[in-house]
Amino acid sequence: MLNIALFGPPGAGKGTQSDLLIERYNLVHISTGDILRNEISEKTELGLEAKNIIEKGSLVSDELIVQIIEKKMRTNTECNGFLFDGFPRTFVQAYILEGLLLKMHTSLLSLISIEVTDKECKKRLLIRGKTSGRSDDTEKVIDFRLIEYQNKTFPVLKFYEERGILEPIDGMGTINEIFEKVSNSIEKNLRKVLFNVVILGYPGSGRGTQAKKLAEKFNLIYISTGDMLQEEVNNKTEVGLAIKELMENGKLVPDEIVIQLIEKKIKLNKDASGFVFKGFPRTIIQAYILDGLLRKQNTSISCIIDLSVPVLQLVKRLAERGKTKQKRRYDIQTEAIVKRLEEHEKKSIPIMQYYQKEKKVFAVNGLGNKDDIFKEVLKHIEFAIKNAR
Ligand code: AP5
Ligand code: MG
Repeated sequence: MLNIALFGPPGAGKGTQSDLLIERYNLVHISTGDILRNEISEKTELGLEAKNIIEKGSLVSDELIVQIIEKKMRTNTECNGFLFDGFPRTFVQAYILEGLLLKMHTSLLSLISIEVTDKECKKRLLIRGKTSGRSDDTEKVIDFRLIEYQNKTFPVLKFYEERGILEPIDGMGTINEIFEKVSNSIEKNLRKVLFNVVILGYPGSGRGTQAKKLAEKFNLIYISTGDMLQEEVNNKTEVGLAIKELMENGKLVPDEIVIQLIEKKIKLNKDASGFVFKGFPRTIIQAYILDGLLRKQNTSISCIIDLSVPVLQLVKRLAERGKTKQKRRYDIQTEAIVKRLEEHEKKSIPIMQYYQKEKKVFAVNGLGNKDDIFKEVLKHIEFAIKNAR
């Protein structure tokens, strides 16, 4: 999802820029002012409550605003992203927005603050007042809205400055000039967004092969927890000695150990453009852990590929590998192979349920030629990249 907030004093041009942005990025426009005016014209209970406040130029209560925002977000869970116009306007609303986006496993790309002098705002709003029919576009109310902005809304910028996602834009100039600046800022921030892929599938489904191809093509860091653990075993490190037997029996290694290894790898690759995870998450707990690990880096999962291959074929493939130099310890005995597949099945169902909700999972038939499968994988990845932008 691509979520952006437009911030600025009344008359800064938030609504004007919103119209252009929702078109370019295919976003759902959430203007609390528009929604409130709509409620007023429909004489709803909410509208009646807001009417007097808006006519004075004051801010409506946070409680009221939360109801509006939550409803609008809840009815648009499938969209490409949200453009918030005139929200958040108080510290409380800033915290609320963080929480609401977190609940949807997403976050704000940036808060774009359109900077315009009071004099210019007033001039624009008085011109707009001649035709807008807005009861708050009169000189007295405009003056009060500007004061309210200074006192209650302007301080909210600090919240976003601390979050590191504040983008100030000079709002003096033509509409097109400002749109150019706003779009450039969004593009710049989008380039910084990491692209993270999870490759799911049974052992032997070709996860490693496809994940490595992806990492190479998109310059992503390949994270295979299996390989990392094997390396520890081979190097006879302290961790390696502790997990040797578990791995030989096809059992899972304790999460604490896996987390440490992944974090180390992420830290070593601070400037990466993204990660491909193979063999992780393997349990529902690890799915939560991965979300947490990525959130710590201010990022999230972009796309999940699920490679599906019939079980008999899997057993055959793993047994074949057992005869080659690439063999894993657990490839040699049929018993170990079957145990791994069984364990995988038990754990993978809840993982799929966890991700299915987010509509980021793409199933790919893992039977056939490696390059053909990769073509299929690419189709989904390219779609996901486009959607992320
Ligand atoms: P809201 O509707 O959000 O009003 P506002 O913040 O006062 O902002 P405006 O809509 O007046 O200005 P804008 O920045 O959108 O500028 P526009 O693009 O129209 O809120 C109204 C009321 O609702 C609030 O006072 C409050 O009571 C309540 N409310 C809303 N949200 C709330 C919240 N979250 N919490 C609590 N209360 C809330 O441009 C203005 C004019 O200038 C237009 O005519 C435009 O054509 C023109 N223009 C735009 N850009 C340029 C340019 N570059 N050069 C020349 N003219 C330009
Ligand atoms: Mg507006």
